[in-house]
Amino acid sequence: MTIEIKPTGSTLGAEITGADLTQPLTDAAFAQIRAAFYQHEVIFFRGQALSDEDQIRFTARFGELRKLKLASQAHVQHPEIFVVSNIVKEGKPIGSYDAGKLWHTDGAYLAKPHAISALRALEVPAHNGRTLGDTHFASTSAAYAALPQSMKKRLEGLMAAQSFEQHLVKTGGTGIKKEIYATANADREAIHPLVRVHPVNGRKCLYVTEGYTSRIVGLPEDESRELIAELAAQCIKPEFTYVHNWRQHDLVMWDDCSTQHRATFDYPASAPRLMHRTTVVGGATVQ
Ligand code: SIN
Repeated sequence: MTIEIKPTGSTLGAEITGADLTQPLTDAAFAQIRAAFYQHEVIFFRGQALSDEDQIRFTARFGELRKLKLASQAHVQHPEIFVVSNIVKEGKPIGSYDAGKLWHTDGAYLAKPHAISALRALEVPAHNGRTLGDTHFASTSAAYAALPQSMKKRLEGLMAAQSFEQHLVKTGGTGIKKEIYATANADREAIHPLVRVHPVNGRKCLYVTEGYTSRIVGLPEDESRELIAELAAQCIKPEFTYVHNWRQHDLVMWDDCSTQHRATFDYPASAPRLMHRTTVVGGATVQ
């Protein structure tokens, strides 16, 4: 099989065909996929009827997978799998039903934020022949590159707080996130550069999201709030975004340094949506 990389035509994102992820890939095939990932920042594969084990095996080639701490967060057999779903069984949600309400990057509040996330569609809601629950992605490297020189200069050396609590408050503080936050050893806030240098491709990326970024260290409150709002809005300008319309058996992977994302809640509670996510552990952030 020949691997083909098909850019979406948006600033970010590429579909990869010609790879069967149910089978171990050769080193050469994996190298091609890895290179496409770091170039396009979001990649996706269609029609991959993967098991959890397949997803874990494939995504673990990108780096160590995060293992979840709470039993209720994880798929029973696999602590690497985080369940995103609106399905309720015996009165309890089987996964995180409000993940992605706001623009965010996964694990921003951790001292070592996630490097990569991979989401696999097991069930996708549909209405009138169109699937619902799209995920929006934004390229934070393209957003940074497009800033005027004066703004790039202003951002030099700035650090910002990424707060789990802010995210919880803004989203209404429900579900699994509330449970995680309440645990004694929960990670609650981390300070990171406002502009991060990508550890693999060296691109400069705005690390500012509506969801997690709560304050810029050393700036007066008003100035900090205004700058966060301005930069968060810069990231999600339509020219820097790609919208993924899901199909069952899609696997989508995104870079948690050079992108941010949000989910769309345009489907009724009666329409099941079930996704399994794995995440690659990241390193310390660099400016
Ligand atoms: C997430 O924010 O990780 C989930 C996104 C989605 O469910 O579309």
